Amino acid sequence: MEWRSIGDVLLLYLLIIMVSSSAISINAIAEEHDLDHIIALLGQPAVKFSQYSGYVTVGNADTDSIYDYIGTVNYWWSHALLSDLTYNSLLKLCNNSFKNTCVDILIYADHEIGKIDQYNIYTEACNYDLCTESYTEIYYNRPDVQKALHANTTAIPYKWTACSDTLFNNWKDAPASMLPVYTKLIAAGLRYGGDTDAIVPITATRLSLSHLNLKIKTPWYAWYTGGKVGGWMEVYDGLTFATVRGAGHEVPLTQPVRAFKVIESFLSGKELPKSE
Ligand SMILES: *[C@@H]1O[C@H](CO)[C@@H](O)[C@H](O)[C@H]1NC(C)=O
Ligand SMILES: *[C@@H]1O[C@H](CO)[C@@H](O)[C@H](O)[C@H]1NC(C)=O
Repeated sequence: MEWRSIGDVLLLYLLIIMVSSSAISINAIAEEHDLDHIIALLGQPAVKFSQYSGYVTVGNADTDSIYDYIGTVNYWWSHALLSDLTYNSLLKLCNNSFKNTCVDILIYADHEIGKIDQYNIYTEACNYDLCTESYTEIYYNRPDVQKALHANTTAIPYKWTACSDTLFNNWKDAPASMLPVYTKLIAAGLRYGGDTDAIVPITATRLSLSHLNLKIKTPWYAWYTGGKVGGWMEVYDGLTFATVRGAGHEVPLTQPVRAFKVIESFLSGKELPKSE
């Protein structure tokens, strides 16, 4: 897995802030084009929006630039990665505007957090096989694997990569918030996130999701696998929220058994087990 540096993290937040300030005025237009975004993804086959609806699972979702930012800063503070002073300054100085003082405080926050793996805060940096990404790329480019997954049926003219520079460099109109898209997508989706990820942390996802004002169908409960709590889950009308305990940004990398359980439950359309 690629170790993202402080610079990348900063860049991410700066981008989020910039996108959010420009995108708010064009929100209405962006919303109209939500459906097209999904159909027109670079190099992808034309899939109708309705074909996605009800079959969506999102991990560590970057959901809404403002709520995600607040939720992320809250995660850093609540996991004792930051001082109170820096926490308050982050909320004040980077409040939906891109200023030099905001950049300074983000750099300072990163200094306070120190050299940990922000993608999985309780493991040592790079405490996993560094070649995982290469194995993944070899595996997902195998024609038999692609066939089994019904993927790449249009013979896309470039290879599958874990992080797509093509997409990153060409996707200029990403909406600042996915919440309007989720509202449309909600039918039978599922989202999951590791709870030790400080890059797209669970607090960010929860704060963003709370703005969908969904009705609770199955109240919050601990789900189990192998006699242990695998994470927590809450089922809403049309959307299921599940966390994976002790998982970082790449959930299957650090919690493969629990990740498998979540995907299995999604595919079988069943809620995760309430008891051991
Ligand atoms: C951030 O901005 C919003 C709206 O402009 C305001 O309501 C909120 O109080 C601000 N938060 C802080 C911590 O200054
Ligand atoms: C798609 O398949 C073609 C072969 O048909 C292969 O050359 C290409 O690398 C694949 N691209 C992706 C993104 O999987």
